[in-house]
Amino acid sequence: MQLPVYLDYNATTPHDPAVIEAMRPFLETEFGNPSSSHVYGTAPRRAVETARAQVAGLLGCRPEEILFTSGGTESNNHAIKSAAMLCRERGRHIITSQVEHPSVLEVFRFLETKGFEARYLPVDETGRVSAAGLESEIRSDTVLISLMHANNEVGTIQPIAEIARIAEKNGILMHTDAAQSAGKIITEPGSLGVSLLSIAGHKLYAPKGIGALYIKGGLALDPFCHGAGQEAGRRAGTENVAMIAGLGKACETAKRNLEKNAAHMQALRDRLEEAVTGEISGSKINGHPEHRLPNTSSISFYGLEANRVLDEIKDKVAASAGAACHSDTVALSHVLSAMAMDQQWAKGTIRLSTGRMSTRQEIDEAAKALTAAAKKLQGASHRKWNFLRRGGG
Ligand SMILES: Cc1ncc(COP(=O)(O)O)c(C=O)c1O
Repeated sequence: MQLPVYLDYNATTPHDPAVIEAMRPFLETEFGNPSSSHVYGTAPRRAVETARAQVAGLLGCRPEEILFTSGGTESNNHAIKSAAMLCRERGRHIITSQVEHPSVLEVFRFLETKGFEARYLPVDETGRVSAAGLESEIRSDTVLISLMHANNEVGTIQPIAEIARIAEKNGILMHTDAAQSAGKIITEPGSLGVSLLSIAGHKLYAPKGIGALYIKGGLALDPFCHGAGQEAGRRAGTENVAMIAGLGKACETAKRNLEKNAAHMQALRDRLEEAVTGEISGSKINGHPEHRLPNTSSISFYGLEANRVLDEIKDKVAASAGAACHSDTVALSHVLSAMAMDQQWAKGTIRLSTGRMSTRQEIDEAAKALTAAAKKLQGASHRKWNFLRRGGG
């Protein structure tokens, strides 16, 4: 069976063969415990430290500032909960945005049950938070800001450096969730000015279940897990050596080819968008026109239902919906809702995301399938959408 073209790299990426090769010795022969002082521990221990340096290389930080975690969700949980607890004597006001991933939003909701007061900032119609708006929300008891670097659904990149400067001026800790941006654009905590930064392995061609958290040197967060003192006492438990080695290799590759990969993903993404919007009246692209991830395309089809579009193309293209329609109700994603999108546009929104392995041929096949599906579903209403578009809909 011919599999559909994979255009869901924001959901997860295929494994880079070089990543699998880097992991292989630790699944096959090098089974030792990195904490062992005998010879069996030597290669695993070295592999963990090599990987730490490779992750630090991608993030432009010191290796000792890298903590290995089980992925983006754990990195976000640990960063936000521990930072909030660290600062709770100084204040309990914490700020995030309405378009965060659930692994941030749910942590904020949890902290609200523990006596913290959370502010969920609105975004504009492109999905961006206003730095000036954020500054006006800061209070004397604000202790933490967590804002995603780039959005997973629409790709909008937040003004992190600008907001981090505001945070620093006010003595507020700043975390960013860089799960979607790492490997696509520069994600250096030093230039962004953040104290905490999360990444997820499976968004950059390493396996699922591995990630890392950058913790700025000197920031004394409570350990995530107490036990035998691994990860400098910050996350006890025998290290997942193979996965860590894989993440290291993925970060090394991402850093080496960052510009080239970004240009490749963007050229294909733009080709797809041009083909679809050029062919389909009543289609439009969401997200910030300039500050947007190079690989992410959120496309809306006016008046159509995302699930029906995906159903039409399911044998040819694998992509995600931005809205789910159930009989007479439509559940829009929280991101599209926060962007205050017109319901008729929002309910017909799908996300396509290109990756390193995407090819021109795949993009042309996907564009063909998508335009055919949209035309079919628009059917007799086609003239109406043309009219709406001319009216600036
Ligand atoms: C922006 C963002 N943050 C966090 C995560 C969670 O990462 P993980 O799946 O590694 O827990 C994701 C995954 O979809 C994401 O897109």
